[in-house]
Amino acid sequence: MSRSSSLPVLAMLDKIKAAISRRSGLRSSETDACRLVNGAGDGLDGLIIDDFAGRWLISSKGEEALPKLTSEVGYRALYSKTLSKNEKLAPAHLGGELLTARFPVQEHGLSYWIDFQSGYSQGLFLDQRLNRQRLREFCPGKTVLNTFAYTCSFGVAAVFAGAKAVNLDLSRNYLEWGQENYRLNGLKPEGSDFIYGDVFDWLGRFAKRDRRFDLVILDPPTFSRSKTSGVFRADQDYGALLERALRVIEPGGILLCCLNAHHVSGTEFRYILKDSLPSSVDLRQMGMPEDFPGSDYLKSFWVHL
Ligand SMILES: C[S@@+](CC[C@H](N)C(=O)[O-])C[C@H]1O[C@@H](n2cnc3c(N)ncnc32)[C@H](O)[C@@H]1O
Repeated sequence: MSRSSSLPVLAMLDKIKAAISRRSGLRSSETDACRLVNGAGDGLDGLIIDDFAGRWLISSKGEEALPKLTSEVGYRALYSKTLSKNEKLAPAHLGGELLTARFPVQEHGLSYWIDFQSGYSQGLFLDQRLNRQRLREFCPGKTVLNTFAYTCSFGVAAVFAGAKAVNLDLSRNYLEWGQENYRLNGLKPEGSDFIYGDVFDWLGRFAKRDRRFDLVILDPPTFSRSKTSGVFRADQDYGALLERALRVIEPGGILLCCLNAHHVSGTEFRYILKDSLPSSVDLRQMGMPEDFPGSDYLKSFWVHL
């Protein structure tokens, strides 16, 4: 049994309310999606609550009783999902509005479609907010390759900020979702900017065609299996991925290298990257957003060649 479930219900509610009020500065007319409760980092071990424009999603390990939250705490819809169970299962309705359709959220003035019916991932990784924001600084007039694009949130941020972006993913559904995200922000999705395929394969194709980008985003899943390139384990194969990406980047270009792995420290990841990079490059680590206190599973380095 986790520590939070052994807390008296009132103490737990107090902690949840305190965690929410610590995020009050984050929510604005420009940003209405954030993590409200981040487990042990908020004194609530095992409990995660994400807020997608008033639709709250509780994630827990499942065994513990979920806190009984009434809409007075501030949600319009309340859902829950169990971590590390069936990854295809959509979140279950607990209270408030019943969500039957996707809905938009805002982040730094950009909009993204969220879908609680789509299965395990809802469409936007909240822990990448700072990287999406920083990306916009480098984008005007640049070319961006967004690998492992998922719903193309990096692509939206890049194009909105004046870049030409290519989004690459092994899921046609996610790429379609990405195009919907472009439209939601008044951006025109060009078919050729959404490539269905394997990242390893396409990095090779671009290199052969001598196609280069000013900025390349590498944010792979921890594990993936593709018919073309086989099994990819981020902690073991990152160097090989980076070496391929380096073949398609313009001299003086920028890479965003992310690794989602609890068991690899930031220092270890830096070494993995340095092993494949010229010695002169500048690596700047980006921490996780403030609504993820106590977490460092997402390691991000901005690499300036
Ligand atoms: C963790 S998500 C990436 C999140 C994304 N960077 C973001 O911030 O929204 C992983 C994505 O990689 C895609 N993927 C997994 N293996 C792949 C491969 N070998 N080539 C292309 N895409 C792949 C999956 O379909 C999924 O959309």
